[in-house]
Amino acid sequence: MTRRIFVTTALPYANGPLHIGHIMEYIQADIWVRFQRMQGHELHFICADDAHGAPIMLKAQAEGVTPQQLVASIAADRPRYLAGFHLSFDHWYSTDSPENTQLSQDIYRRLKSAGFIDHRTVEQFYDPVKGMFLPDRYIKGECPNCHARDQYADACEVCSIVNTPTELIDPYSTLTGAKPVLKSSEHLFFRLSDRRCFEFLEGWLGAPGRLQPQVTNKAGEWLAGKGEQTLGDWDISRDAPYFGIPIPDAPGKYFYVWLDAPIGYLASLKNYFELGKARAHGERRSFEEFLSAADTEQIHFIGKDIIYFHTLFWPAMLKFAGAPYKVPDHVWVHGFITVSGAKMGKRLGNAISPLRYLEIGMNAEWLRYYIAAKLNASVEDLDFNPEDFIARVNSDLIGKYVNIASRAAAFITRYFDGALRYADDLADLTAAARTAGAAAREGYETREFGRVMRECMSFADSINQYFDGERPWVLARDPAEAAHLQAVCSRALYGFKVLSVLLAPVLPQLAERVAREFFGLERAFLWADAGVPPERINAYQHLMTRVEGKQLDALFDDGKTGNATAPAPAGKPAPGAAAVGGTPVSAADALAPGTISIEEFRKIDLRVARIVEAETVAGADKLLKLTLDLGSERRTVFAGIKSAYDPATLKGRLTVMVANLAARKMKFGVSEGMVLAAGGEGPGLYLLTPDSGAAPGMKIT
Ligand code: 2FM
Ligand code: ZN
Repeated sequence: MTRRIFVTTALPYANGPLHIGHIMEYIQADIWVRFQRMQGHELHFICADDAHGAPIMLKAQAEGVTPQQLVASIAADRPRYLAGFHLSFDHWYSTDSPENTQLSQDIYRRLKSAGFIDHRTVEQFYDPVKGMFLPDRYIKGECPNCHARDQYADACEVCSIVNTPTELIDPYSTLTGAKPVLKSSEHLFFRLSDRRCFEFLEGWLGAPGRLQPQVTNKAGEWLAGKGEQTLGDWDISRDAPYFGIPIPDAPGKYFYVWLDAPIGYLASLKNYFELGKARAHGERRSFEEFLSAADTEQIHFIGKDIIYFHTLFWPAMLKFAGAPYKVPDHVWVHGFITVSGAKMGKRLGNAISPLRYLEIGMNAEWLRYYIAAKLNASVEDLDFNPEDFIARVNSDLIGKYVNIASRAAAFITRYFDGALRYADDLADLTAAARTAGAAAREGYETREFGRVMRECMSFADSINQYFDGERPWVLARDPAEAAHLQAVCSRALYGFKVLSVLLAPVLPQLAERVAREFFGLERAFLWADAGVPPERINAYQHLMTRVEGKQLDALFDDGKTGNATAPAPAGKPAPGAAAVGGTPVSAADALAPGTISIEEFRKIDLRVARIVEAETVAGADKLLKLTLDLGSERRTVFAGIKSAYDPATLKGRLTVMVANLAARKMKFGVSEGMVLAAGGEGPGLYLLTPDSGAAPGMKIT
């Protein structure tokens, strides 16, 4: 029976490039989708940009563009990633769309008439300079516990305590520096605490096989967690200015981005139907008919950081909005990507940039295979380990799989003009192929991709062992053994074909080349092709190159900033670090390559300093030892400016120093900071000097 399946991946925020966590999620979903397509099922693989919300609005303002322009510029880059990693989405849209406005407003009206919307007055910090309510991430202040300055409320980076913004001492808006004031405003709430939600969610979460056991447990804890078994109501409105969808009966109020984001799944699907793309995939019903049909499967792939939204709010919203909306059939959750056991982040120096991966010529199918080999159906994190990556790609893909074709094809092309012949009974081989196929099918279906890869590789091992055991290179020397040689190579190549079919969801480009160029098919493989022994081959053409250690070095070295060439050790996430769409990344990771956020820039304490002493250093060609007056203290700094300055001329001058650089022990003493100087390609170094009037200790802002 043909299944009709609507698959989504989490919609990425449209304010930055995709990171490796997104790519991992897309690869996982793409493998599953390709496998289902190979079974002949009707698949609709959908995504979109998550366009709304305060961060996108503010970023657009900072760049002097409209939010729509910002979103469009980010969206313009998406195809590079999707094509680069062979991600076969059928449609990619945006939550900032007429369909999403219509669907979000419709769902809201239905929830309202069913009694699920409440009005409540909320008191919240407001930036009087910016004229807007401040989301918590834009408020900093002194930690009331350890008195560290410049801390976010949600987790003090010094003592780790969780505060609320109103508990911070001397809070300030990170947007303007202004002191926020408490202001009240009316907000709209979705009544998740309604008994009907509890009863529905209890059944939905508990349906056998709907969710992974860890996810059912987690959501079950939230459901049952609060004393009287009620979930907190959910604040779904935000006041203007906000980039979002207007709430129909509440002027000046917009839906919180997390309300319209999942509805964006349906908006993208609707647009796909309206464009006739569903019809092109064999679906003849309308969007509404398809959505509400009992046989339509609605499946979401997401990261573990957004379970709450997808297993509580989202199904409850859909349920109580009523038909044609239908609750999700499954929400499949994956963990985060770590690097050599450590959290990943740009600041940790171990981030993997997907575009860099492609730009330095690494093969996308290596990564697809590696991810598949390490994925299972649990919510565990997936560790990217460079040595393991090299070993798996080279030993599995090249050493085991591709090797079969290159070795066996050489004999068939040379002695038999490409013709395959199976002298003896093939029953044992077809039985082995059937067994491997059934196991792979079960593994793909249940997202146990690692198991499938292991089974494929043990099948490859058995073929290689058989081939080596028959010693074809010896048979080739004896004309009387020609038929035997042909049979041995034919059996090996049938095994290679079976493997190519089973690996096709993971290695789509390679498998298609094998199907068309090597076996001469006029299409890509279907699952059933594994049961058909091939009759001919074309001459073997090189299929895949080995990965080299230096490529991994280049991957981790960003080539510009001298980032670590090896993954950095585990560290605490940076303040404000957010888990976004699957992988923990800092806000900085969401920025265009080479840019830093204002928060990052503010971490550098630049001060005016007076040079009170400048001396040469015995034994150092390039250094001068400077004593700097910072107003309240003196510092010693070793600066590499001897070639450009006579120390006597520096005495008394003002300059600029980095005052919070970690002290560095050098051969000649400890350097307690750094002075700033300009320099270009040619000779010459020019120490920075502030304008007249500046005094030692002044902060450069
Ligand atoms: O966490 C995120 O990156 C969100 N943009 C995911 C949204 S998923 C769905 F609800 F749209
Ligand atoms: Zn603290």
